[in-house]
Amino acid sequence: MLGCGGFIGSHLLDRMLGDGRFRVDGWDPEDGKIQAHLGNPRFRLHRRPANAPETRAELEQAVRSADAVINLAAICNPSEYNTRPLSVIHANLFDVYPVILLCAEHGRWLVNLSTSEVYGRTIAGYLPGGGYDDPDLYELREDETPLVLGPVRNQRWTYACAKQMVERLIYAHHMEDGLPFTIIRPLNFFGPRMDYIPSRDGDGVPRVLACFMAALLAGEPMRLVDGGRARRTIVSIHEAVDAICRILERPQAAQGEIFNIGNRDNEVTIAELADRMRKTYARITGDARYNDHPIVETSAEDFYGAGYEDCDRRMPDLTKAERLLGWSPKVPLDDILLETMTHFHEAHAAGRPAAAGP
Ligand SMILES: NC(=O)c1ccc[n+]([C@@H]2O[C@H](COP(=O)([O-])OP(=O)(O)OC[C@H]3O[C@@H](n4cnc5c(N)ncnc54)[C@H](O)[C@@H]3O)[C@@H](O)[C@H]2O)c1
Repeated sequence: MLGCGGFIGSHLLDRMLGDGRFRVDGWDPEDGKIQAHLGNPRFRLHRRPANAPETRAELEQAVRSADAVINLAAICNPSEYNTRPLSVIHANLFDVYPVILLCAEHGRWLVNLSTSEVYGRTIAGYLPGGGYDDPDLYELREDETPLVLGPVRNQRWTYACAKQMVERLIYAHHMEDGLPFTIIRPLNFFGPRMDYIPSRDGDGVPRVLACFMAALLAGEPMRLVDGGRARRTIVSIHEAVDAICRILERPQAAQGEIFNIGNRDNEVTIAELADRMRKTYARITGDARYNDHPIVETSAEDFYGAGYEDCDRRMPDLTKAERLLGWSPKVPLDDILLETMTHFHEAHAAGRPAAAGP
């Protein structure tokens, strides 16, 4: 498991090591989120990047002896796509290619975490007035929907483009060398341990969940980029991990396939997400002032820097996951937010300033 120390990796380890049937070799220079597993005899952590030259022999040995290689290693934080584009391209493309080659050479099953961002913007999003009354123009279907990325000058697309190229490399090796593969396109997995709270347990600008949570914890306004019009569907990390485990348990059904993993019922605009989060936080703290916690608008350029634009909408077609994996998510957004925000509150609320008034 490459990138086992991150948000998804930590939850996948909880499930796989808790299950007792799996033995996991993991690579990640970070281990803060997986401390609970470090002493587990069925888990071995290589505390270094999977692409480090000094680990090449160990990695090859592990790949040769594995039933599956799960790749989660990435830089996947939107604030870095246009500000560190070369690092983003290297981490998400060039550092992954040696792993694809190893899996192809040894005929090992590569389960690769891609992203729904490979879809880019929807066709509907480019039509004057929007074409959102026609699902053919916005619904994301794994094997049909065109992948529409913006201009090169908008470096925000470095991540999506690198991830798309990895998908195409994997598919090409499948066709030419018989590489067994499964590609997962996550759509906004939310849960405890996602990212970090800036200046408390990390630095920089995290993904939107932690940005809003950090603002609530600090008593600062929640900053809505470009009016928060972009729409996202949000799925519980626990149900997402369930989908990954169903893939691992069903090689015949899952190999050679690309799966969207998301929850169609939990669609919100980012503006609605901010409002739901402040109301959830009022519930968690018992402090009604959070219901009116300030929300301010900011431009993408002010927040992320030049070269940023956003995916407009992500509504996944999930019929393949349901048909081949028997998986369909059920946890409503309010439950996901309550669990996730309670986790952050318990981890960080000490010393928190009082709620900011409207
Ligand atoms: N969380 C989501 O909703 C979401 C959405 C879309 C895509 N994804 C994809 O899922 C995967 C995991 O995402 P996450 O949310 O857990 O991200 P994360 O940032 O929490 O975890 C990624 C981990 O990879 C590690 N890493 C980076 N480079 C590495 C390398 N060369 N070798 C070993 N480890 C390395 C990092 O230290 C980090 O612990 C990524 O590929 C990401 O692009 C996640």
